[in-house]
Amino acid sequence: MEPVRLELENICKEYQQGDTVIQALQNVNLVIEPGEYLSITGQSGSGKSTLMNILGCLDVPTRGKYRIGGQDVQAMSSGELAAFRSRTIGFIFQSFCLLPDLNAMENVELPLLYQKVPRKERRKRAEEALVRVGLESRMHHRPNQMSGGQQQRTAIARAIASQPSVILADEPTGNLDSASGKAVMEILGELNREGKTVVIITHDDKIAKTTRTNVHICNGIVS
Ligand SMILES: Nc1ncnc2c1ncn2[C@@H]1O[C@H](COP(=O)(O)OP(=O)(O)OP(=O)(O)O)[C@@H](O)[C@H]1O
Ligand SMILES: [Mg+2]
Repeated sequence: MEPVRLELENICKEYQQGDTVIQALQNVNLVIEPGEYLSITGQSGSGKSTLMNILGCLDVPTRGKYRIGGQDVQAMSSGELAAFRSRTIGFIFQSFCLLPDLNAMENVELPLLYQKVPRKERRKRAEEALVRVGLESRMHHRPNQMSGGQQQRTAIARAIASQPSVILADEPTGNLDSASGKAVMEILGELNREGKTVVIITHDDKIAKTTRTNVHICNGIVS
């Protein structure tokens, strides 16, 4: 997949909570160039995950425009959007989000199954992705038979098996010890050096310092 530019223009996100409206994002203007290595920092509740969900098309803004590779996301049908998202964006979450009954190989293969990649090709790509993250000896382990670091590397393999041009990671090292966290950051850095756009949400300043660019978010305002 070709690298794409992500453009947020005056993005607002509001949540209605009873009588009050929570302004989770306020007029966010942000351009993420293809191949960028960006960290997003901010306190708990500042709007980081909200921003990430919009970047990943998992949620829609209340107002504003979002373009991916020049395409207006709001203009796509939900089917188009789902297909576009699965080809373009790989997600990594703090809590790994692996399916407990599937082994590492099956977890990595699952999105490829949804994309209707033929069985043989699926196997090949899942295997390559797992080797890539150093899990050649854990392919048939289920999540509860792996350490946290191994589970997160499985999640990275799942994210990269679709060959997306953008990786979005929400606190990818949040549940890991420092050695496993370092291994995860090394893989993300390497994927960026290969040309992928990598966006990492973190509240760890040490991690933010390793990325090329940082944006800070405070009360829904990006600076
Ligand atoms: N579905 C929702 N309904 C109502 N309010 C929400 C919803 N999701 C988030 N919020 C509110 O929006 C604000 C931003 O939340 P968000 O999850 O983006 O914060 P965050 O920066 O990711 O925090 P954390 O570091 O704790 O993960 C918070 O005030 C939160 O309470
Ligand atoms: Mg969050």
